[in-house]
Amino acid sequence: MKRLVVAIDGPAGAGKSTVAQLAAKKLGYTYIDTGAMYRAVAWKVLQQQEVTDERILEVIRDIDVDLHYAEGRTTVTVDGEDVSAAIRTPEVSAVVSRVAALGPVRTKMVDLQRKMAKRGAVLMDGRDIATNVLPHADVKIFLTASIEERARRRWKEMKEKGYDIALETLKKDIAARDKADSEREISPLVQADDAVLLDTTGLSIDEVVARILNLCQ
Ligand code: CDP
Ligand code: CDP
Repeated sequence: MKRLVVAIDGPAGAGKSTVAQLAAKKLGYTYIDTGAMYRAVAWKVLQQQEVTDERILEVIRDIDVDLHYAEGRTTVTVDGEDVSAAIRTPEVSAVVSRVAALGPVRTKMVDLQRKMAKRGAVLMDGRDIATNVLPHADVKIFLTASIEERARRRWKEMKEKGYDIALETLKKDIAARDKADSEREISPLVQADDAVLLDTTGLSIDEVVARILNLCQ
């Protein structure tokens, strides 16, 4: 089979990274988590007390973000340090959309993402993959679910990680991030004209993976 390039976009908590990883495993493809790259930049920005646009631009000038995918696991490093777990905190989630809205940040990350996808046999997920990063992708999927369902999924996930966050708080945070991502000027979150819409509300992970594999076939 051809070494496909698969683009998956959608809002927070739609299940993109979960299903993309499982589909990548079945296909023997590489999974590229672009959200992790923006989170890595946000994590470095947070190492200083104040988050300002100047600080973000200073960080992006010399940051070295690397993504390594092996045996079903993504490792993210910033200047050689493994930050795979550190980038998943609520603190990073709270500032990542602001960081990702700045042009120089996107230019540097998109350039890296295109290089990673060059050889094909990749599944890449994010917000602007089908519309901007890989407009010639073989398969384009826009994954979504109701805000209630997405908040519930994130709540369960955070609880398992030891965070006790109210469902309403998570719902508000997710809605705010979706709004920021959809309304930003550069490469906003939007379904590509040629993407297949997949609403995962009420679908199990396995069902979603099966549909993605079907589309690839
Ligand atoms: O996993 P979750 O849905 O919480 O988000 P993520 O995929 O880790 O992405 C974190 C943030 O990075 C998003 O809310 C966007 O602000 C930004 N992002 C982006 O701007 N473009 C992408 N291709 C991927 C993520
Ligand atoms: O990457 P994105 O933010 O789109 O979502 P995720 O990080 O994969 O998180 C989705 C959460 O919902 C995970 O805890 C999954 O186990 C769960 N879930 C799912 O992804 N898909 C379903 N159909 C049902 C549940």
